[in-house]
Amino acid sequence: MKKKLPTLYIGDLKVDPPIIQGGMGVRVSRSGLAAAVANEGGVGVIAGVGLGKFENRPGSEFESLNNDALREEIRKARSMSRGIIGVNLMVVLSNYEPLVKTAVDEGIDLIISGAGLPLELPKLVGKKDIKLVPIVSSSRALNIICSKWKRNFDRLPDAVIVEGSKAGGHIGYSYQKVIEGKEPSLDDQIREMVELAHTYDPAIPD
Ligand SMILES: Cc1cc2nc3c(=O)[nH]c(=O)nc-3n(C[C@H](O)[C@H](O)[C@H](O)COP(=O)(O)O)c2cc1C
Repeated sequence: MKKKLPTLYIGDLKVDPPIIQGGMGVRVSRSGLAAAVANEGGVGVIAGVGLGKFENRPGSEFESLNNDALREEIRKARSMSRGIIGVNLMVVLSNYEPLVKTAVDEGIDLIISGAGLPLELPKLVGKKDIKLVPIVSSSRALNIICSKWKRNFDRLPDAVIVEGSKAGGHIGYSYQKVIEGKEPSLDDQIREMVELAHTYDPAIPD
């Protein structure tokens, strides 16, 4: 018998099937993929890094070309889907803030941010109903984000993406320790982070 996966709730967003498509930068996950995933009930994610036809253009135009292209991709995705559309914006980007502002102006449903700690994200988003989802690879990083967000903005993440030591991408683990099996397992990481989340909000489900 087929077992149905449990529905994922991120605040009032209902994600069914509970799939968040990974953001893939430099024009890999754009409006077409994001809208297709959103049309199936998942979260479609447009990656903000490297969008725009900035090749052979002066460097001074990069920021505005990147912003315009993100805006266009969000609008295109909205024109193809009424489902949940998010953006993946890496904190390490030199133009992180303008990209966040563009996504906020376009009324994106959620912002996923890794490759650094998105400590100022709630300030950039303000009072708009946009779900904020940090990507973290340790409970220490999550604790820093939660304590700063709580203290400075009276806000906590709406969801958290836990990046295990075997994930690809820009992750915060030592290669040597990973191959020696000395990094904690993803299951241990998740358990630790759920415990930590309960210290901030006991109502969070296990
Ligand atoms: C081509 C490619 C580009 C990616 N770009 C980003 C990115 O811009 N930002 C990010 O946070 N993760 C990026 N990732 C990581 C993915 O979002 C995802 O977390 C990772 O691929 C693990 O998921 P998987 O096991 O389903 O592949 C990228 C992955 C791939 C394969």
